[in-house]
Amino acid sequence: MCAVDVTPVVSTERLVLRGPVITDAPAIASLANDINVAGMTTSMPHPYGLEDAEAFVRRAQACDWRSEALFAIEHRSFGVVGLLGFDHKRGLRTEIGYALGRPFWNRGYATEAVRGGLKWMKRDWRKSIVVAGHFADNPASGQVLCKAGFLYTGDVEQRPCTARGGRAVPTRMMVWLA
Ligand SMILES: CC(C)(COP(=O)(O)OP(=O)(O)OC[C@H]1O[C@@H](n2cnc3c(N)ncnc32)[C@H](O)[C@@H]1OP(=O)(O)O)[C@@H](O)C(=O)NCCC(=O)NCCS
Repeated sequence: MCAVDVTPVVSTERLVLRGPVITDAPAIASLANDINVAGMTTSMPHPYGLEDAEAFVRRAQACDWRSEALFAIEHRSFGVVGLLGFDHKRGLRTEIGYALGRPFWNRGYATEAVRGGLKWMKRDWRKSIVVAGHFADNPASGQVLCKAGFLYTGDVEQRPCTARGGRAVPTRMMVWLA
């Protein structure tokens, strides 16, 4: 059961970040079932089917928004274009993660969503530090984080990638200070 009845909504110029609903599952499966997307995340499997998307939506609907946030990124004209989340899975650090469907890359949507998500997180969770990690072979994500105000810490963690068969991938760590 959800800890709150109404999920948060974050509005930006072109996007709305909101809790996913079950009717989003086909769009989520369609954007996530791409090795170029899932292979740049730690947790998305590949292939990524409708049942994976439905399980994701159920998990998002059951999450406690005080400690975990899983947003669908909805474009005002194109519908669901990606996902964005915050969690504390790795200890006390608040960490951000996101993914955009390939047809929507390089239009500034990830940067806009990350900036909007950070504003919400700072206001609602009152956190002043957020960390992020991008695979070393994913410079586009590093660029998104730089544009949103993250700085490289110099740390490189080895993180498993489910879509790459669980193989550890060098992950460049970054930090954002409110
Ligand atoms: C990484 C990702 C989120 C970027 O989304 P996006 O909406 O295209 O991002 P934006 O348009 O806001 O910004 C992308 C930036 O990366 C740059 N970029 C794109 N490809 C690049 C590359 N190969 N090398 C360096 N920079 C690159 C773009 O030029 C742009 O920077 P600019 O605005 O300064 O020109 C998207 O590609 C994605 O979802 N990838 C798969 C999942 C993923 O990587 N998730 C993040 C895990 S850490």
